[in-house]
Amino acid sequence: MTPDYSAILNTIYAEIQPLLSEGEVASYIPQLSTISPQHFGMAVYCLDGRTFAVGDAHQKFSLQSITKLFALALAFSREGDSIWTRVGREPSGNPFNSLVQLEYERGKPRNPFINAGALVISDILSTRFVQSDIAVLQFARMIADEPNIDFDTTVAQSEHETAHRNYAIAHLMKDFGNFHNPVRTVIESYCRQCSITMTCAELAKAGSFLAQHGSIPWNGTQILDASSAKRMNALMLTCGTYDAAGDFAYRVGLPAKSGVGGGILALVPGDLAVAVWSPGLDTTGNSLAGTYALERFTTLTARSIF
Ligand code: DON
Repeated sequence: MTPDYSAILNTIYAEIQPLLSEGEVASYIPQLSTISPQHFGMAVYCLDGRTFAVGDAHQKFSLQSITKLFALALAFSREGDSIWTRVGREPSGNPFNSLVQLEYERGKPRNPFINAGALVISDILSTRFVQSDIAVLQFARMIADEPNIDFDTTVAQSEHETAHRNYAIAHLMKDFGNFHNPVRTVIESYCRQCSITMTCAELAKAGSFLAQHGSIPWNGTQILDASSAKRMNALMLTCGTYDAAGDFAYRVGLPAKSGVGGGILALVPGDLAVAVWSPGLDTTGNSLAGTYALERFTTLTARSIF
């Protein structure tokens, strides 16, 4: 039976209201701390083209780490399995910006979704493209079918001015020989990539190719082969929400990717993509109300991979 997505989104919207004051907006990127934690938006993009939305689903927000998904899809589609010589495929069990594991694992990041792994992917893209940030932006525009998607240069600059930890991570990897381009060039590109903004409605549409075995639902363009799309989904499930990935799988039961802007993209393979945005974060850096909303979504729709 097809769930009544419209009614379910309205139910969730009412249920999450008390949670909006509980999370903490990210402040280590100063510009992100100016956003009100009271926002909440949620959008569903069904592979048959139906769309549903509630709340602030048409308001732009900072994608941050969700762009790591696009960067990885682009790198994986161009470079194939060779990327795995530079970055692993295991959950880290550590915060997304931790340096600790990287030292004793000799500069090879656990996975492409923690900051160290995403910086290696940016380094790989910087070798392949003249400007890796523009390559990721063009890719995002294509998969969202939305030519106006852009960087937020104020956020990018704000992140760059305080990017000491990412500089430390990149320099450590360079010392271990796992970083080929100039650190500054790659980090500037990475900050611009992370500053890309989208609405929940755009994000759900942009992620839909990953729910449809790597092909864009509305025009059939094959972005990734089915096997690679399956592997991206597996990485999202095991690593997409950092050291909370186990708990997220337990509560929500979907492959997902979060960002410190408060967005989360989740996939029901073969069925739909769902995006949620609420800027208040829990202690692991995932949207507090957003995670709860997705937990309710899979419960109320009986749609999860388990
Ligand atoms: O590199 C950073 O710290 C940010 N540009 C992205 C971090 C992020 O979104 C982690 N997500 N929960």
